Amino acid sequence: MILRDGTTRVEVTALTDDIFRVGVFPEGMPVEYRSEAVVFDRQPSGDLSRVRVQHDPVRIAFEAHGRVFAADDAGVERFSKARAEGERYFGCGERTAGLEKTGSHQVFWNVDPPEGHTASFNNLYTSIPFVLSLVDGRAHGLFLDYPGRVEFDLAKADPDRFTAVGTDAFVYYVFAGPTPRDVLAQYTELTGRISLPPLWALGNQQSKWGYEDADEVRAIARGHRERGIPCDVVYLDIDHMDGYRVFTFDPQRFPDPAGFVAELEADGFKVVCITDPGVKVDEDYGVYVSGRERDLYCKTKRGTEYRNVVWPGLCAFPDFTNPEAREWWGDQQAPLVEAGVAGVWCDMDEPALFVPDQSTMPGDVVHPGGGEPRYHQDVHNLYGSLMARAARTGLERLRPDKRPFVITRAGYAGLQRDALQWTGDNSSWWEHLWMSMPQLQNLGLSGVSFCGVDVGGFFGDSNGELLARWTEFGIFQPFCRNHSCKGTVPQEPWAFGEPWEAVCREMLELRMRLLPYLYGLFDEAARTGAPILRPLLFEYPDDPVTYSADDEFLVGDALLVAPITRPGIEHRHVYLPAGTWGQWWTGERIQGPAHVLAHAPLGKPAIYARANAAIPLWPVLQHTGELPDELTLRVFGGEGSVTRSLYEDAGDGYGPYARRTVTCDGRTLKLGPCEGDYVPSRLRVEVVGRGVVEVPDGAFEITLP
Ligand code: GLC
Repeated sequence: MILRDGTTRVEVTALTDDIFRVGVFPEGMPVEYRSEAVVFDRQPSGDLSRVRVQHDPVRIAFEAHGRVFAADDAGVERFSKARAEGERYFGCGERTAGLEKTGSHQVFWNVDPPEGHTASFNNLYTSIPFVLSLVDGRAHGLFLDYPGRVEFDLAKADPDRFTAVGTDAFVYYVFAGPTPRDVLAQYTELTGRISLPPLWALGNQQSKWGYEDADEVRAIARGHRERGIPCDVVYLDIDHMDGYRVFTFDPQRFPDPAGFVAELEADGFKVVCITDPGVKVDEDYGVYVSGRERDLYCKTKRGTEYRNVVWPGLCAFPDFTNPEAREWWGDQQAPLVEAGVAGVWCDMDEPALFVPDQSTMPGDVVHPGGGEPRYHQDVHNLYGSLMARAARTGLERLRPDKRPFVITRAGYAGLQRDALQWTGDNSSWWEHLWMSMPQLQNLGLSGVSFCGVDVGGFFGDSNGELLARWTEFGIFQPFCRNHSCKGTVPQEPWAFGEPWEAVCREMLELRMRLLPYLYGLFDEAARTGAPILRPLLFEYPDDPVTYSADDEFLVGDALLVAPITRPGIEHRHVYLPAGTWGQWWTGERIQGPAHVLAHAPLGKPAIYARANAAIPLWPVLQHTGELPDELTLRVFGGEGSVTRSLYEDAGDGYGPYARRTVTCDGRTLKLGPCEGDYVPSRLRVEVVGRGVVEVPDGAFEITLP
């Protein structure tokens, strides 16, 4: 549908019955839908009967699932949507200031924030101009697709309006819901979903900026095995490089990278390496020279190579908007892959620059784009996403039989296709432990289901109690990695001695036990966009009490977790939504909705399981290389029937899988037919408080004890 409002051209397209695109193009501006965020490439097939248009001035609204939403309340040429009565806003990507966004002003512009950022900092490393709205329990979504600076005013300046500023011509998408799950499915149909990571990426991971050489990393790995603390991955931060030259190893400190990686691999560890976009300007450094010769770097507006200072000193910066530069960058990873490195960590990709301190590229830096030049100010938020894409597609070419593993700090809407997001430099503060909860829930509600914060905190010294409590939370993060800054006290799980070490061990053992459950949630996220760590409102949108449950969360549909986030405390309030919940440690049943006072002494965090949800568990493993062939389904019996899905495969590569449904009503457990050719594990069922039964081969229904 094409409309005219004065000299402005407005195009409305129903991509599907539930996904609408609106393009607003003032006179003289090209009709342009090019987007690095959007992957929807089918012919639009939706029905425009759900679009309501008022002429002169043109105003657009949508009507579906029994209500009108995203209604313009000014002429279309500026973005202004009426706030429906009772409408509440959520999402907005990586935000630390709580779940609800109603009454806030949101800035979307990637920055490397100063040390010790607090909840009063709005924008951090990634930008996702996406809002999920709830009105009377029904959800819709809106995504404004512009990777330069965008600002949303969510009923702050005017309590009855959602306005946005950014560009004169703008494109936005509306998602009809009507549940939060539907909105996430629709938003990720448009912007893409995570791909299933290798199983080892779900294991525990250990990192520190400051592990100086191969021997130190070896000792850290050994430390885990000697103490029986599960760990799958160790990291090499920038100190592994030769003078901070990306894709190199320091010949003194890492003299035999392949031997070192092979040795760790034999002990069940993967190695992941950091990469930074700044390429040291050095005529004797092949990476720099090849990038210059192929003309792949960003330029000043005078056409010279744009340079700034990062770890290696003066650097040039690849123009990742250019597909050729992405391919070249991906290929530069070959020395890492040849050494056996299993994954790549993209850092400083806002990009973060040192001159002036803590800055980014000036807006007039040119991204030549392989013939389609754009100013940095128009693509800024994309830099990290496109670096991650270069890394991911490069790994796919270099190691086609393995799933790529890429981490990014910066990015834009859709980044979930290319990488997981870790949330950069937090601090070893109790406040930052608290803030991780809304931060990861907000990311999950914005399509980034694979995410995590540095467990234990990055800046500043951690301590035993903080690390133990943080680990109680960290094992529920989709990405579970302990990482900290150079110069801070050691914070490996054993660093503070007892009783903290034992708590960390028990928690990481629980993580390993829960891996089959988590893996099933990753499979769901990859297929539907549902967050792994999810706010209560995702499952219970009709219950407004959940809208302010910032400091507790669900892991999938079956576990509710309420971490302790203050020192010296063993009790806290927990809200349990409707249904029966089983206390993980005591088996006590609690009928929701209920506000309860949880007792959560160290090592026994407040975890509740949804009654009759079969939760698959492994025995305790030290790493995922010890893949067992038996699963225990833990059930807290109760009223009502719950169906879940169970996913299994070989843990890496693209071979067969097995997916089956498990339905339990507390008395019987039924298994659906197995989809896929992977040989599924034998099953036993543990009904908490009632006993264990083995499931005979081929059985589809068993009676529970
Ligand atoms: C950045 C990263 C941090 C890393 C450090 C050194 O601050 O966010 O995780 O350790 O750079 O590479």
